[in-house]
Amino acid sequence: MITRIPDVNSVRASLQKFPRPLALVPTMGALHDGHLSLIREARKQVGSGGTVVVSIFVNPIQFDRASDLSTYPQPLAEDLARCEAEGVEIAFVPEKKDLYYGDRSILVTESLLSKHLCGASRPGHFDGVLTIVLKLFNIFQPEIAVFGNKDFQQLAIIRRMVRDLNLPVQIIGHPTVRENDGLALSSRNSRLSPGQRKDAPRIRRALEAARDLKVNGEQKPGVYLDAARSHLLAGAPGDFSIDYLELVDAGTLQPVAKVNCSAVLATACFYGNIRLIDHLEIRR
Ligand code: PAJ
Repeated sequence: MITRIPDVNSVRASLQKFPRPLALVPTMGALHDGHLSLIREARKQVGSGGTVVVSIFVNPIQFDRASDLSTYPQPLAEDLARCEAEGVEIAFVPEKKDLYYGDRSILVTESLLSKHLCGASRPGHFDGVLTIVLKLFNIFQPEIAVFGNKDFQQLAIIRRMVRDLNLPVQIIGHPTVRENDGLALSSRNSRLSPGQRKDAPRIRRALEAARDLKVNGEQKPGVYLDAARSHLLAGAPGDFSIDYLELVDAGTLQPVAKVNCSAVLATACFYGNIRLIDHLEIRR
């Protein structure tokens, strides 16, 4: 039976009966197979003798658009059933009032890796992510926390926080789970219309088409970006738009001047107000 911990105050007492090591999988719910793959990785890490905790919390302070927050899917009963089916020991489903004081005045800020990509187009987003992730680390004190590579900027920034603040937790990154047609699984996919859903693999295809330029030894970032942009936009529906398209260094997340080391081609695109992200590594 899964134990549901509803609020922060009951965590300590509830945790006493669960053996360590403990692996935490932070989520905002609307769980899909991508989330489930993180849960399985967490189980692999701690074994049957350890404890897997899944947090489900649509963190309001990381949303830069009110419409994105208000339309975020929240199928809690299904989420809990999926966790239970995966053998998750603890589901943590707090409410906003449990986690945030009305007069809170501390925020975790990252000032380098968050300058581009989602950090540039969603002001304050990563401050919100880091703040909630640090709070979850403090509440559960997990030995291990599992995150998806799909949000590779988020993963890099969380690793940086762990390094810079000496947090005693091991961060595991897990590969992106995709639909058969290449679309990365996302909780936001459920909001796509059938037409938008059919079109959405264009994002992956555009990144792959640009990456293939590497075969000819192309080094100019502009050539990759132009190729990706034209594939993104060719025959796209009227409500499709590019939020950002950037080619950044895999380590620093700053734009590259030359594609001669590991670089990441990353994009965020809109179908109407539904925002989808994806990225592809361009290896040496
Ligand atoms: P959420 O978007 O729910 O994602 C939770 C975790 O699932 C993240 O680590 C994310 O990278 C991972 N994930 C999402 N889609 C995936 C896919 N297709 N394949 C593999 N993993 C995938 O990311 C967040 O929530 C929040 O920012 C959070 C870290 C919980 C802080 O609020």
